[in-house]
Amino acid sequence: MNQSDVLATIAQREFVNKSLDLLTNKEKESGKKLTASVITFGCQMNARDSEKLAGILVASGFELLEDTEDADFVLYNTCTVRDNANQKLYGHLGEALSRKKKNPEMLVGICGCLPQEPSALEKIKKSYSYVDLIFGTHNLYAFPEYLSRLLSGERHICEIVDHADNIVEDLPVIRKYPFKSGVNIMFGCNNFCTYCIVPHVRGRERSRESTDILEEIRKLAGTGVKEVMLLGQNVNSYGNGIDGEISFPELLKRVCDIDGIERVRFMTSHPKDLSEELIQTIKSDEKICRHLHLPLQSGSTKVLKEMNRRYTKEQYLDLALHIKDEIPDIALTTDIMVGFPGETAADVDDTIDVIKQVEYDNAFTFIYSKRMGTPAASREDQVPEAEVKENFDRVLKCVQDSAKKQSLRWQGLVLPALVEETNTSLDGYVTGRLSNNMIVHFPGTPGLIGTIVPVRLDECRGFYYMGSRV
Ligand code: SAH
Ligand code: SF4
Ligand code: F3S
Repeated sequence: MNQSDVLATIAQREFVNKSLDLLTNKEKESGKKLTASVITFGCQMNARDSEKLAGILVASGFELLEDTEDADFVLYNTCTVRDNANQKLYGHLGEALSRKKKNPEMLVGICGCLPQEPSALEKIKKSYSYVDLIFGTHNLYAFPEYLSRLLSGERHICEIVDHADNIVEDLPVIRKYPFKSGVNIMFGCNNFCTYCIVPHVRGRERSRESTDILEEIRKLAGTGVKEVMLLGQNVNSYGNGIDGEISFPELLKRVCDIDGIERVRFMTSHPKDLSEELIQTIKSDEKICRHLHLPLQSGSTKVLKEMNRRYTKEQYLDLALHIKDEIPDIALTTDIMVGFPGETAADVDDTIDVIKQVEYDNAFTFIYSKRMGTPAASREDQVPEAEVKENFDRVLKCVQDSAKKQSLRWQGLVLPALVEETNTSLDGYVTGRLSNNMIVHFPGTPGLIGTIVPVRLDECRGFYYMGSRV
């Protein structure tokens, strides 16, 4: 951290103390404990941000409630990667209004990616004017300050900035799981894929210093964390722009060397920057999970070029097949988009060809969604909905066939599973995650949660296994 980051951190800690005083007084007046909840949309980055927001709420004296919007303060941490993410938020905001009518003291906040997009911000201000607090991705670290202003009685706070000045470290965090944690290694993205709003709402790529990252992971390991997921939009370009910083594979090796860390995952890898060094690092260290998410987007070289993905169909295929050759027990997953402007049925055939050749273990398939301000949105050759739907169904069918076939390849094996939770629908069962990211349910007691145990994969049921401890 540089000097200005340190000062920003200290200032925010003081705001946490101020909120705590204000909240204690309010609770004395009302005679009840005030509650808060954070509702998260979007990707792993947002999930990790929500843990920080929750940490600040708890440090400020709120009682944190999970999975409910019946709280005195509800904070929506939003996503805007596709239009359906926006629509989902608007649905929740409609319901929040009826709650607020019943409880006029209730506070509603919105943060994250969506308010960083100017037209969405306008819509919120106009159509949901009862929202008390709005802030964005670049000033999340200043949440303690905004919270203290809210608790002092200020309303309609709207603080959006268009770039990040600080990487503030060491604010309080409440983790969802005691035994695993996401760790940001970089923020933002420089790739500007022509369909994507992420660089516009998350800003330019900024890597954290490796010493800060390793220190955070050492502390996590000290509290019992066994699995970390290193987070960034393009982890393979980790360290770019910091003089003398180590590479991503080197960072992975150093994370694996930390006592107590037994599993390391990472998200997301851009195919254009995936190095041979990374493949060899994954291969040589068993602690690095046997799962690689390698977004394809499209199998058509023409479409990939127009998307600004900076690889061809052949380069992607060579890379994916080489990885499978080198690390046969790796599970490969991907993201695929259908309906990019100008995409033809022949382009979709290319996508299907790649799916068939790579044989993904799983894939997320998305219908292209026009995002305001991105180059693809202003193209005139948007594909008609019916055509997109037809192509999407073809891709989905192919992905499902591949996933079904691939998931069978673990049948009968005994593999270590990190037990994550008790099974809510099967009494006496727990649920664990394998290194390849598959889920296995098996008989076990809650005492196993957070431990890694060998499990035989007895029966494949599509995307998960039923197993037994050995
Ligand atoms: N940084 C990651 C992706 C982050 S967004 C990467 O480059 O792989 C997650 C996924 O959302 C993307 O992989 C893409 O498939 C999808 N996506 C992004 N923008 C989209 C849009 N405008 N319409 C539909 N899907 C989109
Ligand atoms: Fe979006 Fe492309 Fe960046 Fe991923 S790499 S976040 S798809 S711009
Ligand atoms: Fe969504 Fe923002 Fe993540 S737009 S996908 S929450 S980076």
